[in-house]
Amino acid sequence: MPFRTRITRWDLSLEESVLSLAVLREKVAIMTSGGDAAGMNPAVKSTADYALKLGMEPYLVKWGLRGLIEGWIEPATDAFLSDLIHRGGTALGSSRSKRFFEYEFRKQAYENLERLGIGKLVIIGGDGSFNALNQFYEDFKVPFAGIPATIDNDISGTDYCLGVDTALNMIRSSVDSIRDTASSFSRAFVIETMGRDCGYLAMTSALATDAEVCLVPEIEYDLDCIGKRLRAQRDAGKQYLLGIVAEGTGMGETLTRWMSDALGMDARLTVLGHVQRGGSPTVYDRIMAFKFAGAALDNLQAGEKNKVVVFKDGAFGMASINEITDTKHESDPALIKLCRGLSC
Ligand code: F6P
Repeated sequence: MPFRTRITRWDLSLEESVLSLAVLREKVAIMTSGGDAAGMNPAVKSTADYALKLGMEPYLVKWGLRGLIEGWIEPATDAFLSDLIHRGGTALGSSRSKRFFEYEFRKQAYENLERLGIGKLVIIGGDGSFNALNQFYEDFKVPFAGIPATIDNDISGTDYCLGVDTALNMIRSSVDSIRDTASSFSRAFVIETMGRDCGYLAMTSALATDAEVCLVPEIEYDLDCIGKRLRAQRDAGKQYLLGIVAEGTGMGETLTRWMSDALGMDARLTVLGHVQRGGSPTVYDRIMAFKFAGAALDNLQAGEKNKVVVFKDGAFGMASINEITDTKHESDPALIKLCRGLSC
């Protein structure tokens, strides 16, 4: 710990001792980084609340890594924390800072923390952000704990990332609405979900909304085979069709045209886009945020220095940065198995 000092003074009055203890309280800064996700705000709030319970002084970094460089770091106030739990996105703001990959700017960030006497960090974000802070740890030995947050659910080593449940509920609600109009007009609808190269959002949503088709990067698809199945379903009386496509396949427009050409249906494409990233965090995301935050601080206080909290097989643990960033993320095989029938 480079900037924690211990002073033993036997000549202080009780009040002075209490005051000096307050001055010496360990300071932890909390920040969000990378793509925003619902659940970030509850995670900020619960990390700050728990830090106070542990006798630490919570600080907040505004605008992610950029704020660390610029020194946009303030003590957490009750007024700010008490208005967070229901809000989507990140009230602290976020950024994807290229400058942080240059030593000069990391040094500037370190000097900002040093000036304020902040010795620990909790970062809520994705693997790019964890990598950045790991480099920062290697340079300046400021311990940090990462909390995974991204709607893509594509961080290795954890079964869950904050924001996923809220995004899934957004998608579910949108597809339910699309079903109303699809059924009214006997149309085919293709709905494109986010997720970068990961099909988790698309697969889970396709199952939850009982879609007829699901195309994701994890599963090979065969349009001829899908065509046979859908024609049979149409012959059996199916009036409308829903197809969920992960953005990573780049198949949204192609599948829509194909539904029109090969099946002779009036077909429409809905790209859900950033609506999936917003919205008030679900109860699950809020409670998971509390648990991730608790594990992050407990492990930092227990001496972990550069690890990420992971939720694996129903339990919380810590994973090293290498485990997170050097391992290719694999989607849940059970989910893939359930969705195979929607890709053929
Ligand atoms: O990683 C989260 C995510 O929403 C992806 O699903 C999507 O591909 C990407 O971010 C969009 O990024 P941006 O907000 O920069 O357009």
